[in-house]
Amino acid sequence: MSSLKDKSVVITGAAMGLGLAAAKVCAEKGANLTLVDYNESALTSAKAEIEKATPGVKILTITADVSDEAAVKAYVEAALKAYSRIDGFYNNAGIEGRQAPLVSYDQQVFEKVVDINLYGVYYGMRHIIPIMQQQQYGRIVNVASVGGIRGVMNQTPYVATKHAVTGLTKQAALEYGRDGILTNAIAPGAILTPMVAEAFKQVNPEDPKAAETVYAQANPTKRLGLPEEVGRLVAFLLSDECSYVNGQVIAIDGGQSNSYGNV
Ligand SMILES: NC(=O)c1ccc[n+]([C@@H]2O[C@H](COP(=O)([O-])OP(=O)(O)OC[C@H]3O[C@@H](n4cnc5c(N)ncnc54)[C@H](O)[C@@H]3O)[C@@H](O)[C@H]2O)c1
Repeated sequence: MSSLKDKSVVITGAAMGLGLAAAKVCAEKGANLTLVDYNESALTSAKAEIEKATPGVKILTITADVSDEAAVKAYVEAALKAYSRIDGFYNNAGIEGRQAPLVSYDQQVFEKVVDINLYGVYYGMRHIIPIMQQQQYGRIVNVASVGGIRGVMNQTPYVATKHAVTGLTKQAALEYGRDGILTNAIAPGAILTPMVAEAFKQVNPEDPKAAETVYAQANPTKRLGLPEEVGRLVAFLLSDECSYVNGQVIAIDGGQSNSYGNV
């Protein structure tokens, strides 16, 4: 079983959803955590929840917007000051934007999605990789999406930025593998988090649960994924046991992205 004992792990978007679930798994496996989110109150609750589940865990929380490079620099410096190193980086914060066709997509929302999903991910790598190079050790897990390997109706900036995340992942893997830094991405399908609950509300405002049921039927497993299932994959990719996987985009979607037609 993969261990993260005494590893210093930074997680963005850690206040809820996939970030919080991975933080819980990493805490159980012995990591010292730096949790970053721009939702301060949710971050405080997340910290309390993890401490309750794993007493004695070390957690530093930092309220920061990952699309602000100065704030990224500050959270990286704070993590380094607290734990003297950064072994693992779960570069997870992201937003979906509003659903609309490409030609009528709201320009401001488009730019916001690019700022967070592309620049936020890039800034994190830009400031953490030099620290990992000095250590000659690091594990980076970027969060793409099935929308980073396939198109998704009405989600142009999301799909464009998640494809960019897969590109950033392959690029860093090539350039920094020689420094002991392994960079991979995960491509989750629909996982039951607050973000996906909001998406189902947009698809069917009267009956979001019906939209969820329809979606689940298109999956070979006939269900949506759970955040802790993604958290366990992330913990492996952040650990020493992940020693020769580099530059990969790993779908975690119940097999849905392999299908062509009905299942
Ligand atoms: N849930 C899914 O099914 C799914 C599928 C594919 C990819 N993803 C990706 O996984 C990641 C997490 O998604 P989730 O479903 O947990 O979302 P979520 O909305 O449930 O949680 C996202 C967290 O990130 C934080 N955040 C958002 N923008 C931020 C910013 N600029 N700075 C700091 N914190 C910020 C939010 O406050 C929130 O706590 C995203 O990158 C998302 O695109 C999710």
